[in-house]
Amino acid sequence: MVGSGNDSKPKSTTGYGLGSVDTVISVDDVQREAQKLSATAPPVAALDALVEGAPAVAIDDLVAGYGRMEILHSFSLRVGTGQSLCLIGPNGAGKSTVLHSIYGFTNIFSGTIHAGGTDVTRLGSNDKLKNGIAYILQDNSVFPDMTVEENLLMGGYLMDKPADARAAAERVFQKYDRLRERAKQPARVLSGGERRLLEISRALVMDPDVLLVDEPSIGLEPRFIDMVFDILDDLQRTEGKTIIMVEQNAKKGLEFADIGYVLVSGELAKAGPGSVLLEDPDVGRLFLGG
Ligand SMILES: Nc1ncnc2c1ncn2[C@@H]1O[C@H](COP(=O)(O)OP(=O)(O)OP(=O)(O)O)[C@@H](O)[C@H]1O
Ligand SMILES: [Mg+2]
Repeated sequence: MVGSGNDSKPKSTTGYGLGSVDTVISVDDVQREAQKLSATAPPVAALDALVEGAPAVAIDDLVAGYGRMEILHSFSLRVGTGQSLCLIGPNGAGKSTVLHSIYGFTNIFSGTIHAGGTDVTRLGSNDKLKNGIAYILQDNSVFPDMTVEENLLMGGYLMDKPADARAAAERVFQKYDRLRERAKQPARVLSGGERRLLEISRALVMDPDVLLVDEPSIGLEPRFIDMVFDILDDLQRTEGKTIIMVEQNAKKGLEFADIGYVLVSGELAKAGPGSVLLEDPDVGRLFLGG
């Protein structure tokens, strides 16, 4: 389907995807080839077909960006309650911008965002959080000099009563022993994986319905990557959370997610069940390093 822009001499760059797999396609080639995919963007009916259960988040024809710069061009998304969706795509494609837009960090020029049937397009981030949407940042956002417990309590800053935040933090500690054991220690002593767990836990303090997770595996060793995905899996399967994630580790992300989207230059290029995208030859060549 995609023309071969790659018949020149293979380059020895690692390209995009899993670092552990030898790839022979350069970053520029990925960008060029991925661009061609967006010519066959899936229609909204195809996105609807991937949804199971009540709609949790629906984005329609979103045009959004930063300042006056447009990053997302008529982007649509659908995910059902208790489903998981993973966005993959080249660097700079606008994946984080999708999460930023849902959470209220971007300038929205047109289009709508609905969460659980409510129009939340114009709500600020605090109101998003009160409406059950939580955002876990791509960057390391733990406060190193505060204790684990204090970091966790920060997640409840919107609660009216400190006692409510404490009760919520206690609920999280009951679930994650390894955090409780370190409750009184400064967060800087945590391992990378534990830090990511703390970031996720802080979002859980508000008991959100929808978790927006940017690059959960970034910077983690493989065993911690598995731990983080197990935690997200548990949140989805046992607590019924809806998860929208961005993942540079496309294999992990697509193995995990019910639904996979490929984003290229601010536009949707492909969508399908995660397991189907994993087997897709274009996705394999461009994003899985195979
Ligand atoms: N806060 C910001 N202000 C201005 N421009 C931004 C901001 N954040 C991102 N951009 C720009 O928006 C575009 C899309 O960036 P985004 O971070 O959404 O991409 P991404 O797909 O998440 O990439 P990566 O895989 O590198 O994380 C890029 O051109 C980027 O420079
Ligand atoms: Mg990003």
